[in-house]
Amino acid sequence: MYSSKITGLGYYVPENVVTNDDLTQWMETSDEWIQERTGIKERRWIDPKTEDTTAVMGAKAARIAIERAGLTKDDIDFIIFATLSPDMYFPGGGVQIQDMLDMPTIGALDVRNQCSGFIYSLSVADQFIKTGMYKNILVIGAENHSGGLEKSTRGRGVTVIFGDGAGAAVLSRTEEKGKGILSSHLHSEGKHAKELALIGPSTNRWVPEIIEANDPEDASYFPHMNGQFVFKHAVVRFSEAIIEGLTANGLQKDDIDMLIPHQANLRIAQFIQKKFELSNDKVYNNIMRYGNTTAASIIIALTEAWEEGKIKEDDLVVLAAFGSGFTWGSVVIRW
Ligand code: ACO
Repeated sequence: MYSSKITGLGYYVPENVVTNDDLTQWMETSDEWIQERTGIKERRWIDPKTEDTTAVMGAKAARIAIERAGLTKDDIDFIIFATLSPDMYFPGGGVQIQDMLDMPTIGALDVRNQCSGFIYSLSVADQFIKTGMYKNILVIGAENHSGGLEKSTRGRGVTVIFGDGAGAAVLSRTEEKGKGILSSHLHSEGKHAKELALIGPSTNRWVPEIIEANDPEDASYFPHMNGQFVFKHAVVRFSEAIIEGLTANGLQKDDIDMLIPHQANLRIAQFIQKKFELSNDKVYNNIMRYGNTTAASIIIALTEAWEEGKIKEDDLVVLAAFGSGFTWGSVVIRW
């Protein structure tokens, strides 16, 4: 049986930096409030005057990952694209990437698992490679949150947290024993779907009463989050996902060389770090600079950690995520 390993990584974030102080032009908030509760100092938001969109950013990250894998676009067998903020309601963004990169008519699959989107995508790609169906799969996570956030005091509890960006990985077949993705673990609990959700622009739009009430000021057209509820579930599920990944491979917490948690909130990441007694060099966080980029967060952080030389050959790398759905999971990698 084959295994899969990451052979190329890339990311792209828009140039436009929005600091916490910048946000005060739209809403009542403060740098102190945001940093204390989330750790975020600044985020990147697309400048609408630029060409950037979710798919455009995804394509930019993808080009870098393909090149670093030593491949060309024609070597890619399949695309998996994770986003909650596609450019169009349909079709999905994967086909846009296929077109933007001028790729052959390979399959393109969109994954809608929000903050866990990259974990789910990586797991799906791993299965395709293990069965021998595909050799090289492009896995992308990208988000344009800024286009859909409520830039007013009413929306501040959500708006200050999210940033735009994209990351991509090429997952390739390997016959090296004990290397690459060792296991992946996926979960969901849909009864909490509305605790972190965007209700408005859905199939509900065709319901007459909703057309009637189609008010752009309607809060249901912006993301809603029950912050404290999400926090409490996140710390439990993140921990479970990491333990599950370690246990499945007969590993202990001391075996972790690098933990890349979804960049939900620095306080959540710090809680997990403390629980697993990991030193600072074993957890990578960049939420301070980019905010929460949902499906892009893990892959941007993984790419940065790798670029900075913090991930070395044979390291045990654990990726873990929790998010809207609720969905959560982990991927355990021997680098
Ligand atoms: N600036 C200033 N004040 C604010 C802001 C803001 N941006 N947002 C909310 N407030 C106010 C509220 O209106 C409220 O005021 P009140 O007491 O007068 O009513 C007060 O601050 C406290 O609001 P809470 O929502 O209770 O604030 P809390 O301390 O819970 O912090 C936060 C909010 C940061 C969202 C917290 O609940 C949290 O960390 N939750 C985890 C959820 C998370 O991390 N989500 C990330 C995305 S989901 C994911 O990726 C998994």
